[in-house]
Amino acid sequence: MKSDSFGRYFGITTFGESHGPAIGVVLEDIKPGIEFPEEEIRKVLRERRPGKGQFSSERDENDDLVILSGIFEGRTTGTPICLIVFNHDHRPEDYNAIRNIFRPGHGDYCFYKKFKIYDYRGGGRASGRETLARVAAGEMVNHLLGNIEIALYPVQIGHFQANEVDLSFENELHWPDRSNYQQLSTFLTDLKKQGDSCGGIIQAIIRNVPVGLGDPVFEKLDANLAKAILSIGSVKGIEFGIGFQMADRKGSETNDEMSSGGFLSNNSGGITAGISTGQEVRFRFLVKPTPSIRKTQNTMTTSGESIRFSVNGRHDTVIIPRIIPVARAMIKLVLADAISHQNLLTEKPADLSILREVIEKIDEDLLLCLYRRKQISQNIGSLKKNQELPVSDPAREKELFQQLQEKASELDLDQDFVKEIWDRIFTYSRDLQC
Ligand SMILES: Cc1cc2nc3c(=O)[nH]c(=O)nc-3n(C[C@H](O)[C@H](O)[C@H](O)COP(=O)(O)O)c2cc1C
Repeated sequence: MKSDSFGRYFGITTFGESHGPAIGVVLEDIKPGIEFPEEEIRKVLRERRPGKGQFSSERDENDDLVILSGIFEGRTTGTPICLIVFNHDHRPEDYNAIRNIFRPGHGDYCFYKKFKIYDYRGGGRASGRETLARVAAGEMVNHLLGNIEIALYPVQIGHFQANEVDLSFENELHWPDRSNYQQLSTFLTDLKKQGDSCGGIIQAIIRNVPVGLGDPVFEKLDANLAKAILSIGSVKGIEFGIGFQMADRKGSETNDEMSSGGFLSNNSGGITAGISTGQEVRFRFLVKPTPSIRKTQNTMTTSGESIRFSVNGRHDTVIIPRIIPVARAMIKLVLADAISHQNLLTEKPADLSILREVIEKIDEDLLLCLYRRKQISQNIGSLKKNQELPVSDPAREKELFQQLQEKASELDLDQDFVKEIWDRIFTYSRDLQC
């Protein structure tokens, strides 16, 4: 059971709790020699960070990245990469009062029943803070995504709808409609004063997705995107293309007809039979209202007593702005996985720059091997001297050559080429030992 892991072609495993010492991620199977996108990771962590806007939790974390393994001189080494962020501004005392109370809308009751023990401080593993690990991981697969572009913006917050979409309009909610932003802002300020919260709907549009990503049965692209998005805390629904509107449309109004120039519509959201059509991938997903609210509600204690309860501590009035970077990271991880699979199927050569980076790394490894060989050869020379053995041992060299030629033929390497290299290596070793 790998319930904390995600991905087939490169795995990510996240770990840590909201109020533990740190949150982190381990990434496996990321190719060696790839430039480590440290600045990009720091940037997305800042985007996801709490304590940034008036409708965001006031928990103030600097979310400073610590690289524990897998990176050497700014590049991936091909070994597991471990990235962590320490939790600084955790105030467990905010949670003392709720240690025996199941908070409505949170997983406390389910955790308690399932594990018989749970970290009541800030939701533990179910905390939104876990998602910083995913956000960091998302930046590690950029090299696989080519020119794919991902746009994410809310189209509904509370009862407000975005009627116009202007993505150049900058605001803390990522709201794309200037015309009603002020009213929306006032609505959220009032909601915050009342100690309440709201949710909304986020639109995702992914451009330049190549045709053919995804598989027809258990690895459908839409199924994998749905799982990735629904794995984000507080996301409760997802629809692709025109989604649930299909219910009262006829087939003739729903099918994406084609002509010589390609598709005439995109009702399916750019995925049919689990496989990308080459059109924009479009889906929308629902984010529920933030469950922690100051308004008093009914609940139960761990000993089964009914009580009235309200949440103290610091919480987002609406979680949407904090969900956006997380959703972007999850989309990247799903697409990178599907692309890796497709590259294997089609044996398509990877990007030239990536191949060059890998070759550079191999050359570096070869040099390191030669260096180690030189050191060992010198040690052998000293031992031979001590034991008064001759430097040259033609019988052993012949046997070694034979073994190398056999191995070379298994690997389909040119035998003359291999002989030439090892002739030179053996001469060098003998010279060192003389
Ligand atoms: C980035 C992010 C931040 C979140 N911040 C909060 C928060 O400040 N307060 C809160 O009550 N829930 C917050 N949540 C939502 C809860 O984690 C989530 O609703 C809860 O664990 C129950 O899970 P469910 O809503 O998926 O059923 C956040 C979720 C994410 C992904």
